[in-house]
Amino acid sequence: MTTDVVTITSRAKINWLLRVGPPRSDGYHELLTIFQELELGEPMTFRALQATECRLSGYPADIPPEKNLVTRAWQLMAGNYPAVRGLDVSIKKSLPQGGGLGGGSSNAACTLKAINALYHLNVPDSELEQLAGQLGSDVSFFIKGGAACGSGRGEILEQLPPSPVYHLVLVFPRERMSTAEGYRLLDEISRPIPSPHTLSTFLTAVQSGSPATLAPYLQNDFELVAKNFNWFSETRTKLQQAGVQKVLLCGSGSTVAGLCENRYAAQRIALHVGGIPTYTWPAS
Ligand code: C5P
Repeated sequence: MTTDVVTITSRAKINWLLRVGPPRSDGYHELLTIFQELELGEPMTFRALQATECRLSGYPADIPPEKNLVTRAWQLMAGNYPAVRGLDVSIKKSLPQGGGLGGGSSNAACTLKAINALYHLNVPDSELEQLAGQLGSDVSFFIKGGAACGSGRGEILEQLPPSPVYHLVLVFPRERMSTAEGYRLLDEISRPIPSPHTLSTFLTAVQSGSPATLAPYLQNDFELVAKNFNWFSETRTKLQQAGVQKVLLCGSGSTVAGLCENRYAAQRIALHVGGIPTYTWPAS
């Protein structure tokens, strides 16, 4: 039995906190992070197919289907659940590729959820999160979305209560720093290991609903390397001069976020700097 069509908005994320520990023996880095889902997203439509294939439309031609996380998500589900046949996926891409907003990871998580619904598999979220972890470090977060604390590679999650709404402006610099390159450069810098204290003070601040209270607690270790690149320092200056409360790099970049006082400030600043206004999303 199948449902005909499933439509889901594949939303972006930011990391309010992204602390990166030393490299592990498997090459990954131990993280302490707070994920927060954003309203900004891409609509995805899924249909079941009788033929055992995954058809994609709406992706830029430079992403080969075998590298696309959506195809890999379908392969993973088809390999684990024999009822799964083919999948037709169409998407309206708007998030930058490799922009640190988790666009590809979110698309993959939506694909797992859509297949679960289309084929009435009733796979619990905990199992979907485990499968998601095989696709990428931050895919698991997008199964439930909302706000979560991530540790391990980022795939060990503790769901957090929804936070009050915060307004942001996102700026997409043209230059990029690849995730792997960001981690490599970070390993050349010595940095303090985050203490558990960091987390409890942060969680109190985020619940305040006040951008001015939250601002001093936002921290992304990748800024230690990004600050040496013009795309970051120039964007940071532009956002600061426009009056944001805090500038925050998204993931390993290169999207740069400005935390704004309220919705009106976000709209005004977005126009001024050529960015996109958005806000935090409680849960999918
Ligand atoms: O898991 P994902 O495919 O998103 O990771 C991309 C790259 O980022 C990895 O190959 C690794 O170099 C780096 N990474 C890391 N530590 C993490 C997450 C990612 O070193 N916790």
